[in-house]
Parts: sequence; C-alpha cells; structure tokens
Amino acid sequence: MGRVIGVGLIGHGFMGRAHSLAWRNITLFTDSPLTPVLKAVAGRREDAVREFAVRFGFERYYTDYRLMIKDPGIEVIDNVTPNYMHKEPTIEAIEAGKHVIVEKPPALNAEEAYEMYKAAERAGVVNMVAFNYRFVPAIVLAKQLISSGRLGRIYHFRAFYLQQSLANPNAPLTWRLKREYAGFGTLADLGSHIIDLARYLIGEINEVNGVLYTFNRSRLNPATGLSEEVNVDEGFTAMVKFSNGATGILEASKLATGHFNSLIIEVNGSEGSIRFNLERVNELEVYLTSDGELSGFRRILVTQRTHPFIRFWWPPGHVLGWEHTFTHELYHFLTRLNEGRGVGPEAADFKDGWRVMSIIEAIAKSSREGDWVNVP
Ligand SMILES: NC(=O)c1ccc[n+]([C@@H]2O[C@H](COP(=O)([O-])OP(=O)(O)OC[C@H]3O[C@@H](n4cnc5c(N)ncnc54)[C@H](O)[C@@H]3O)[C@@H](O)[C@H]2O)c1
Repeated sequence: MGRVIGVGLIGHGFMGRAHSLAWRNITLFTDSPLTPVLKAVAGRREDAVREFAVRFGFERYYTDYRLMIKDPGIEVIDNVTPNYMHKEPTIEAIEAGKHVIVEKPPALNAEEAYEMYKAAERAGVVNMVAFNYRFVPAIVLAKQLISSGRLGRIYHFRAFYLQQSLANPNAPLTWRLKREYAGFGTLADLGSHIIDLARYLIGEINEVNGVLYTFNRSRLNPATGLSEEVNVDEGFTAMVKFSNGATGILEASKLATGHFNSLIIEVNGSEGSIRFNLERVNELEVYLTSDGELSGFRRILVTQRTHPFIRFWWPPGHVLGWEHTFTHELYHFLTRLNEGRGVGPEAADFKDGWRVMSIIEAIAKSSREGDWVNVP
C-alpha cells in the first residue's frame, strides 16, 4: 500500500456511486502506488449527502463544496456533478492546488473547457476528463492493434451510441434536456464519448458535417408538474474527416428503441478490422486479412491475464463489467500523479476535453448551416 491520498467528491448521484465504488476498488484490487482515502463528499441536501457519506465510507461530508475544496486533507477533487457545475468548482479546486477529475462532457461549451484547460496548465496540477470507455480492456486492446499497425492503414471509423431512454414522449424532463444545465443534449452526453474514442483510436478530427434533431419538443418537469421546452438535441448524426485521411460516421441517439446502452464501434483498415459493442463489454471482434482462407471475424474474450487491466481481477473468462472501467481510469490517474506527469495519451486530459467540446460545437454549427464545418 502506497502513500495515502485524500479524495473529495462533489456530487453523489449516478456517477457519485460509480466513482466511489471505483476509488474503493483501487485499494482492494490494484497495485496503485497511492492509496486513495475517501475524505469527504459535498452535496446540497444534508440528509442525502450524510446518508451517501455513511453508505460509501467517506470520513465527512460538506453541504458547501467550497469548504471541501479548502480541506487540507484533500489532494484530489473529483467532480461528478451535472455539466453546468463542472467549470466553476473545478477551476476553484485547481486554484487551491488540487489535482482534478471532471466527468464528461468537461463543460457546457468549448470556451469553458478552454478556461479549465488553461487553468490546469497554469497551476501544473494533474487533470483528467473521465472518459471511462478508454479503459474498457477490449477498447485498449483495439487501440494496441491499431497503433501497432496490425490493421494496416486505417480507412474508416464508425461509432454509434444508442439508447432508448427518450423514445417514450412521456419520459420526464431532466437537467440533461435543458441547455442551461447540459450545454448540448445527446450530442454532449453520449456523443462526447464517441468523439473522444474517435480521437483516441484514430486521431484528430478536422472537418464535420452533422445533423441534430429533437422530435419531442416539450416534456413534463416532475418537479413543477408543468410542461417545459426541450431546448437541446435528442440525437445527432455526423460525417467526419480525420487529419490522417480516415473517414468516419458518428451517431448518438436516445430514441433508438431496443438499445439499452449500445456503444458500437467498427474500424476498417487495409489489413483488418475490429468491432465492439458495449453491451458485450468483454468481447472484441477482430478480422485480419493475413488469416487467408481462414479469415473471418473472430471473437476475442478479452479476459486473459495478458489483456489490459485483467491482472487485477479474476481468472480468464470470469468476466468484467461496466463499473470496472472507472477503477481502471482512476488507477491510471493515481499512477500518473505518483509519477508527477499528466494522464495522456491513454486518458483524456483537459486539453482533450476542450478538443471534444470544439468538435461538438462544430457539429452543431454544421447542423445549423447545412454544410461541412472546419473544427477550429
Ligand atoms: N462516464 C459516464 O459513463 C457517465 C455516465 C453518466 C453521467 N456522466 C456524467 O456525470 C455527470 C453527473 O451525472 P449523473 O448522472 O451522476 O447526474 P445525477 O443527476 O445522478 O447526479 C448529480 C449530482 O450532482 C449534485 N449536484 C447538482 N448540483 C449541485 C450543486 N450545485 N452543488 C453540489 N452538488 C450538486 C446532485 O445533487 C447529484 O448528487 C454529468 O456530467 C454526466 O454527463 C458520465
């Protein structure tokens, strides 16, 4: 067990649970050089944040995140609040000298994400945007195959992130459907993941041509009982061009009935292809032209000891799940923090976060203008 490092969490909803579990698993399962200790969690409602602190084993709680940021026992601030709460608390934490993690999308827009990137750079703190799908073992294996040239020259990247949570017109209004809280809709929520994976696996995107759509223009707000305007997209489709010449298709929708959480990726190169679907998270399909008369997609169960991160867990075939990706990314963060260097290129840092937000804005602009747009 390495040096103890205090962690403070802002927010305790869906991602609060996922990150808290992951912080605990680091100590239980990995060989992390730093031992994270759940020092404090901050939330607005005292009864809820107290209950969460007890349940997940935090030493204390705050009802004002600003006080938590000042806590000298905390070196890492992990911000898992809704998008509109990303910039301000994260920059405050940076200015207090804390290392920072922020959930995706990093901010409401590219300008905010740029401010966060510059603040972290000035302060020299370790910073990460929690794009956890970079830490699916099958995705890391795919990255290794692409980087080592096993797939040859990359021609195409295809990614679809499909859910059905908004297909029912009576599904309630949430913060994710209001521009002031979310920035963009499904484009930011699911689209940011596939844009990040596109950059991670293939390279920089420099031109986009996209369409955003919203079929259900109003929904009931359960808090007020009133119908409110939905002022963000429910989904998007975009063609993209990579600076290395590859072409791509991206689509994210929450209107895709039958899809619970399908993050589907396909890469085609001159010497082979890979396919992945998050609903089958342990598997990577690989096709290699060199297989000759036996060529065909083979299904790799990515649970062998030699596969990324599997050494921390169970024997081969004792499959992992979605929540393990969070342990892997926070482990990576701590390892880099211990080495005194940034989280890239394996993880997304705040500069990557700014690039992703710039691509999101370019897709939205392209949709408004009906033409190709260069990513600034
Ligand atoms: N990586 C992933 O796979 C993934 C999945 C879901 C959500 N997310 C991201 O995580 C973030 C949080 O999403 P979620 O689903 O956990 O949301 P949520 O609504 O479940 O939880 C948000 C939490 O933030 C708290 N909060 C809101 N405003 C606050 C304030 N002013 N001060 C203190 N706390 C405040 C809420 O009380 C709640 O505890 C979002 O940015 C979202 O895009 C990422």
